[in-house]
Amino acid sequence: MAVIISIVNQKGGVAKTTTAVNLGAALGNMGKRVLIVDLDPQGNATAGLGISGGAKRELEHTTYDVIMGEVRPADAIIKTEFKNLSLMPSTQTLAEAEIKLLRFENKNMQLKKEILQIREDYDIIIIDCLPSLGVLALNGLNACDRIIIPMQCEPYSLEGVAELIATVKRVKKSSNRNLQIMGIVFTMVDSKLRVNREVMRSIKSKFPEDLFFNAEIPRNVRIAEAPSHGEPITYYDPGSKGADAYIRLAKEVARKCKAIEEML
Ligand SMILES: Nc1ncnc2c1ncn2[C@@H]1O[C@H](COP(=O)(O)OP(=O)(O)O)[C@@H](O)[C@H]1O
Ligand SMILES: [Mg+2]
Repeated sequence: MAVIISIVNQKGGVAKTTTAVNLGAALGNMGKRVLIVDLDPQGNATAGLGISGGAKRELEHTTYDVIMGEVRPADAIIKTEFKNLSLMPSTQTLAEAEIKLLRFENKNMQLKKEILQIREDYDIIIIDCLPSLGVLALNGLNACDRIIIPMQCEPYSLEGVAELIATVKRVKKSSNRNLQIMGIVFTMVDSKLRVNREVMRSIKSKFPEDLFFNAEIPRNVRIAEAPSHGEPITYYDPGSKGADAYIRLAKEVARKCKAIEEML
């Protein structure tokens, strides 16, 4: 039964999508059956997995249709060209759900209701959340067992994290009792920059040590290039430092998922 992980941070540009796509692909390569749910109207995860332009326009169903309860998840999910990796794609239309969902009685629980139907079909489901804490993001937080928070090492990174953690606590109390933070992963790390190291140390001092993944994702030009080729880094440049870092992260995530599976 799949462990469901949401990649969350209401800040944009912190590598949520990059982490969803590359972690997903690396887990797929390890033999895990992975589904990535694109829960962002920008559809960056969809594009990063090679569905852009004409292919995007030809999509029959997307996350929008699923979250609105109009089609079953299996009807929106497509197989990607990457090993063991499926995708529930999204387009701009998903933005409409942010308003339309408000009319639903269980507006924050729609995605969970749908995703539970396909839980047996995968080992890990990764939800790439949009940069907000609105109703769509709350659907992401309610549908998952764990969250991963990507964080950039810069002086303002902690801004918003208190709000995010407060939101997680609220969701846990009200509607998703077993929700936990799986970990914080540092992204776009430039270890040569002293300020990066200092900021990292200061962030780490504010949380329990085991809340952080050992793997840190370096700032790496190959990671930045990969999405425009529609490929995860482990396919675009398997020998790169970026690929290596995401493989190490995937191993940690797989280990943590094993422990969670036994509790599900
Ligand atoms: N490790 C990295 N090295 C270099 N560029 C990165 C790295 N991680 C992400 N990026 C780039 O940073 C930008 C924001 O990343 P993205 O994953 O889209 O963030 P989010 O989904 O949080 O908005 C993208 O252009 C992406 O290619
Ligand atoms: Mg994104």
